[in-house]
Amino acid sequence: MYLHLQSVFIIFVVGSVWSHKNVSELKFPPWFKFGAATAAYQIEGGWNISDKSPSIWDVFTHESPGMISDGGAGDEACDSYRLWREDVKIVADLGLDFYRFSISWPRLLPSGFPDRISSAGRRYYSELIDGLLAAGVEPVVTVYHWDLPQSLQDLGGWTNPLISDWFADYARVVFSLYADRVKTWITINEPVIYCDASYTMGVAPKVQSPEIGLYLCKKHALIAHAKAWRIYDKEFKPKYHGKVSLSNLIMWFEPDDDGEEEVAELARQYGGGMYSHPIYSKEGGWPPAIEQLIAKRSLEQGYPRSRLPAFTEHEIQLTRGTYDFYGLNYYTARLTRRARSGERIGIWPFSGISELNITFTTRPEWKKAPPFWFYIYPEGLRHLMTWLRDQYGDMEFFITETGVSDYDGRLHDVDRVEYYQKHLEQVLLSIHEDHVNVTGFTAWTLMDDFEWIDGYRSKFGLYAVDFSDQQRRRTPRTSAVYYRNVVHTGSITPPKYSPYSDNGVTNKIFSCTNLYSLIITVYYVLDFQNC
Ligand SMILES: *[C@@H]1O[C@H](CO)[C@@H](O)[C@H](O)[C@H]1NC(C)=O
Ligand SMILES: *[C@@H]1O[C@H](CO)[C@@H](O)[C@H](O)[C@H]1NC(C)=O
Ligand SMILES: *[C@@H]1O[C@H](CO)[C@@H](O)[C@H](O)[C@H]1NC(C)=O
Repeated sequence: MYLHLQSVFIIFVVGSVWSHKNVSELKFPPWFKFGAATAAYQIEGGWNISDKSPSIWDVFTHESPGMISDGGAGDEACDSYRLWREDVKIVADLGLDFYRFSISWPRLLPSGFPDRISSAGRRYYSELIDGLLAAGVEPVVTVYHWDLPQSLQDLGGWTNPLISDWFADYARVVFSLYADRVKTWITINEPVIYCDASYTMGVAPKVQSPEIGLYLCKKHALIAHAKAWRIYDKEFKPKYHGKVSLSNLIMWFEPDDDGEEEVAELARQYGGGMYSHPIYSKEGGWPPAIEQLIAKRSLEQGYPRSRLPAFTEHEIQLTRGTYDFYGLNYYTARLTRRARSGERIGIWPFSGISELNITFTTRPEWKKAPPFWFYIYPEGLRHLMTWLRDQYGDMEFFITETGVSDYDGRLHDVDRVEYYQKHLEQVLLSIHEDHVNVTGFTAWTLMDDFEWIDGYRSKFGLYAVDFSDQQRRRTPRTSAVYYRNVVHTGSITPPKYSPYSDNGVTNKIFSCTNLYSLIITVYYVLDFQNC
């Protein structure tokens, strides 16, 4: 008996030392919030319902189906315009703390301007918000997620400096309708995609202007965000006490084996710094190194001035400090090195930065996921948060997106479970080892959707959606069961068995482990009686 207790004690000590070192034993703090995200154009459908006007994506998909990998469009998508109660139901089933969705500008303001608010649009988002609150789920709302009214695109869209006022006017309408119930706001999502990727590749709004358009878009997007943030701060925050920021998609960059750290750092300043320095740094404005390099290159190319429009002193003051947290979207990483002479530099933001003469590669051990740009590097998420904190100081970090896709859409998606587990592990290390103040994690995405130029081929969902079914049936994948357990327990270890009952597949998967847990339980009960 004595010996027995002693050995139990030794096991306990060894176990606790081991578990201290073992990341999978770390837990998320009780205040940490978990959610999932979607975006209006990608799920809503109802593209021409009531008085909604077309967005740049309606026009792009209808006029250029050849540029979408499967020729698809968001005309019906998950039909969330009609089936939003199903979305609320699955969000509640997952036990999420919050659900991040976006508002469609052309659905709420058909002319693009606040001369008239669509009553159907206004009611739709109001009911969705009330439905979430009734289910105990906090709404986190993105004001703009790439679906500009085509009427504003016809006036130049994000390349017209007046858009910052048009956006601010739209944001004021959104705040005035929903700020009483919504406490966390994202002004704009991933300007690096709708500016850099759009204007480099010529996808919606189908304007290719990789040297001029993308920089106009960048500057105006940052100022638009700033104006919206200031409107909330002045007119709504005193009464509603919410938080407002933007969501930046940043790729992590590190030098390849013969690359220099200096080159990787330039790439970071170009990719992440241009969207962060104007808002999060003490000085404001563009990252100085990038501003100088683009000015120099522009002059060499024969332009009379820099292609990158400068911030005026007034604009620097206007934009600086317009945040309540850092909203971070993370998916992938690249290795960087200087281009070799005669080497063709691929398309920014996916394969290189021609502006800086930098090419990208990847490590062979980084797993590949679809679509073409996706290489998996979980550690990049942790490095990125430390880099941002070192650059801009301590602040709250909120991971507003991460997730992974596959093409076969299988229900038993072990690769997706692994993706989430490994990325959550990096978040735990950020919190516990780096003492980064990360407060939330958002899975992209709640359910399969229209993935922009990859159409319906890329499946990113925790839930599968049957797009051939009128009712767009949503079915939980194994990753949904996994994520639900993370939300409930704060632990990233996959559950031994699943109490989840409405998914036959996962039940089958877990039935063996169920038996295993039963045997373990019986063993311990017998052992305890022995004692
Ligand atoms: C809306 O678009 C669908 C095709 O997606 C079309 O069949 C329908 O007639 C349109 N409705 C209106 C009111 O234009
Ligand atoms: C890029 O680097 C290559 C190789 O060093 C060089 O030949 C080329 O002139 C550089 N281009 C620019 C725009 O700096
Ligand atoms: C983290 O950020 C939240 C929200 O701003 C704040 O309430 C909390 O005190 C911060 N925690 C730390 C350790 O700084």
